[in-house]
Amino acid sequence: MHYLLIAATILGMHSFHYRDGRLYCEEVDLAKAAEAFGTPLYIYSAGTILDHYQRLDQALAGLDHLICYAVKANSNRAILHLLAEAGAGFDIVSGGELYRVIRAGGDASKCTFAGVGKSREEIEYALEQQVYSFNIESEAELDYINQIAVAKNLRAAIALRVNPDVVAPTHKYIATGQSENKFGVPLDRVATVYERAAKMPNIIIRGIQMHIGSQITEAAPFVAAIETITPLVGKLKSRYPLEFFSIGGGLGIAYESSIASGRADWWAANRSHPLTISDYANAIVPQLEKMGLRILLEPGRLLVGNAGVLLTRVRYIKETGQKKFAIVDAGMNDLIRPALYGSYHEIVPVKESHASTSKIDIVGPVCESGDFFAQERDMPPLQAGDLLAIMSAGAYGFAMASTYNSRPLPAEALVRGDKVALVRERQVLEDLTRGEVDPKWQQRRP
Ligand code: LLP
Repeated sequence: MHYLLIAATILGMHSFHYRDGRLYCEEVDLAKAAEAFGTPLYIYSAGTILDHYQRLDQALAGLDHLICYAVKANSNRAILHLLAEAGAGFDIVSGGELYRVIRAGGDASKCTFAGVGKSREEIEYALEQQVYSFNIESEAELDYINQIAVAKNLRAAIALRVNPDVVAPTHKYIATGQSENKFGVPLDRVATVYERAAKMPNIIIRGIQMHIGSQITEAAPFVAAIETITPLVGKLKSRYPLEFFSIGGGLGIAYESSIASGRADWWAANRSHPLTISDYANAIVPQLEKMGLRILLEPGRLLVGNAGVLLTRVRYIKETGQKKFAIVDAGMNDLIRPALYGSYHEIVPVKESHASTSKIDIVGPVCESGDFFAQERDMPPLQAGDLLAIMSAGAYGFAMASTYNSRPLPAEALVRGDKVALVRERQVLEDLTRGEVDPKWQQRRP
């Protein structure tokens, strides 16, 4: 059994494991799923998602809390439905995400609406649906939401997103809690902005929120941020009817086993220290209890990251003088994380191999040298036709996929026990040009 899979099975991080030399997701043979639905194919384990949700829920049992799943991590309707049924709320960042939640049977009154650039249409839609809270990122946005609420004769419940100015050790593209980032209201402005909000006729002050970044693998930055914010929360509570504090999302996951491979970048340095749910809860619950508010969390990656893999088939093996490449049928358009963040994903053969390994680059068909999933990776011998599983691809995988190079979007499937079902059809060529129209030039007036 592969070392990561052993670790993952013991820690209960996900339900992917070898059985009789074949990779399974729960009770489903992945080679068979690939045959039935084709590749590239995202496969998610419903059991893993629910297990993560329930563990987090239980770890917070002592607090009045609501887990608002961050839809951006994976917005497939089947997954939203699963979590809605389990009782989750949702953290959304667009009108599109709100639409998806509602289509999946989720409850708008359990939705928090984040994001620095909400449009008029999105604000109107969220007002009509009466979302639980607009998480406000700037004074300009607060004014705009109030204006729209006045015009529609509706009231907007809000929370200010506070930027606590703490350093979260993560990739710089996804660190959000420092003053140099575009997110949130600076700590020293918060009291004044609440004062203004309190005077706005169509604004209801409901909470306070923060989110310091993503893929954070230590508890300390969360604790530091809560400590920074707590005195302010106390003051605000005495003045306004605050109902909740949202700690945001950001809990990191293990992308790899603890065996280091000598890479020097951020993901390499941090990948082996997953923060467990109980470490996280033990560190923050005592402080949160003292706040005396309802606690919201916005986890994305934690719930779905290790619950999904991307299955891809080797098309060609290519050897140049210096290098060996396995060219697979998935590309950076299907999973952009390695290209965009230099992030590490474990890759395992679907047919278990104990053969000795050698170094190879695993690359896609897209016409860029950035189109790789792994470079100089130790892999057992590979040949055309072999199936590979790119692990930990459940979060920010399909959700960030595009049709770059005019490659139809891949299919997605969900496993539950011994059953597997398609939850998104593979795009076909006609999908690529849908919506494109021949130009109908307007006649110029003489
Ligand atoms: N809440 C807010 C306000 C957020 O901006 C985010 C993520 C979350 C919650 C959920 O964070 P999580 O629990 O998943 O860490 N595409 C990147 C990650 C971008 C995260 C953006 N914000 C990646 O692939 O690593």
